[in-house]
Amino acid sequence: MELRASLNHLNVTTPDPAAMAAFYCSTYGMTQASAGDAIVCTGPGRVVALTRGPANKLAYAHYTFNDTPAWLAFRDRVPGAAQIDVPALARPAPDAVAIKDPDGNVIVFSPPDIASDVEVRADDMPQAILQHFALRTTQPQAMLAFYQSLGFVLSDEVHDPTGAVRACFLRTEHLHHSLALFGAPAAGFDHQSFETDTWADMRVWGDRMAELRVPIVWGIGRHGPGNDVFFMVRDPDGNLAEISAEIEVCESERPAGVWVHEERTLNLWGKAIMRD
Ligand SMILES: [Fe+2]
Repeated sequence: MELRASLNHLNVTTPDPAAMAAFYCSTYGMTQASAGDAIVCTGPGRVVALTRGPANKLAYAHYTFNDTPAWLAFRDRVPGAAQIDVPALARPAPDAVAIKDPDGNVIVFSPPDIASDVEVRADDMPQAILQHFALRTTQPQAMLAFYQSLGFVLSDEVHDPTGAVRACFLRTEHLHHSLALFGAPAAGFDHQSFETDTWADMRVWGDRMAELRVPIVWGIGRHGPGNDVFFMVRDPDGNLAEISAEIEVCESERPAGVWVHEERTLNLWGKAIMRD
């Protein structure tokens, strides 16, 4: 059974929050506002917060539970001793709890009745909802075990020839993954993905990048795990930012899949960014 939680927003650290905010607002159709130490970029279904700090690091990821029974079950599963102080959040979330993973990434969870008075500007772009994010790690097996202990469900994993885990894709609801973990020489933030509805929407978003002279650095392609069609651009810090469509919808009892660590796994249509 999945956690029944979905991503609320990410807060990414950066040496230049203003430049990053300008990028996300222009490419992904958001408007920006200050919230404490962060600049918060908000669009329909998507929020990206930016806090001054090192590049390519997550300040925190915030999940919101979809219903109260799921939230209460999660609270029972996570002992108070495992919790850390909740960081200042870009969007208010009473009763949130926070946990640190083995790499030191902070993950915040909050109940479903999140208070929100955020005004979201409607725009004329197709839907693009913050759906998943990915981390790089030097210890994918330990990270996988940690997230499974929280109730994240393994959808697919990627093994090298020795059988070691090189990447894995974990879900918190019916969509194939809300978190991906990639083995890499250094830990850090890898990418966030905004999910559209259709192929036609992918085209509209691609044309928007072209209009802004933001080159697509990977794709268009189709991931093996998740089967989503995607393209990626890079933000000013070099983080990847993805537009995706058609991500797999999983039944609760779907067995976890195993893939070979090769380019074809990460892009069925061609070249891949292998992270190592
Ligand atoms: Fe992705």
